[in-house]
Amino acid sequence: MSDVSRPSPAPSPVAAVIPAAGKGVRLGPGAPKALRTLNGTPMLIHAARALAASRAVSLVVVVAPPDGAAEVKSLLDAHGLPGGGIPGGSGERTDFLVVPGGDSRQESVRLGLDALPPEYGVVLVHDAARPLVPVDTVDAVIEAVRDGAHAVVPALPLADTVKEVEPAAEPGAPEPVVATPARARLRAVQTPQGFDRRTLVRAHETVTGEVTDDASMVEQLGERVVVVPGHEEAFKVTRPLDLVLAEAVLARRRLNDGF
Ligand code: C5P
Repeated sequence: MSDVSRPSPAPSPVAAVIPAAGKGVRLGPGAPKALRTLNGTPMLIHAARALAASRAVSLVVVVAPPDGAAEVKSLLDAHGLPGGGIPGGSGERTDFLVVPGGDSRQESVRLGLDALPPEYGVVLVHDAARPLVPVDTVDAVIEAVRDGAHAVVPALPLADTVKEVEPAAEPGAPEPVVATPARARLRAVQTPQGFDRRTLVRAHETVTGEVTDDASMVEQLGERVVVVPGHEEAFKVTRPLDLVLAEAVLARRRLNDGF
């Protein structure tokens, strides 16, 4: 007898961790970056909704500023995303959990991973500071992990040529250029980054030192990381001008969607 009639196993459930504990000093003084509003709604809420929009994502863990978990919970409640629920087996619904974060992005992600129930075999890590990522990008990352990749990053080609520099001889002096990597081989990496959960946990247990994304920790394990196409609307809101751009994207979406 062949196996053809046997139903294929259900795909592993997907959880998303949103590190949202950063101060966002480059945006200027004010509330923590994730709580800054775009069209009246905090960036974190936009980001949480963007991930929950994927049918595959059944749990979103929000990592709040260390002293701000209660505030983030009530914010999620106020926007119809109850953040205190016990996750598990909710079918099409998305559950939300809030945990306090740490001093570095890495520590915040690790605290989010620690809160995941055992059934989640696929984990996305998504910056709260990328509130407008389209659901197609989220789904493309999930699909690549479910197809067998252990680590997947969405990324775009660069418009600018990139130079590697070394520190200036003295403060304020011009920085000497040491190299110009071939632009065609460079990619600007976005989130959500997607992982086989065991691989990401191993990376967080093994790799120490400052990193700026999770995939680079997996690279340091010697594991293969692959790229899928990113999206220009998945940009990171970092500087004041990015807030203007994000509100323009939202205005265009409202026009296109007719609401
Ligand atoms: O600082 P950067 O823009 O790289 O931060 C990326 C993401 O990591 C942001 O969503 C920020 O809130 C989060 N972060 C965190 N805990 C920290 C520092 C940053 O969750 N201690």
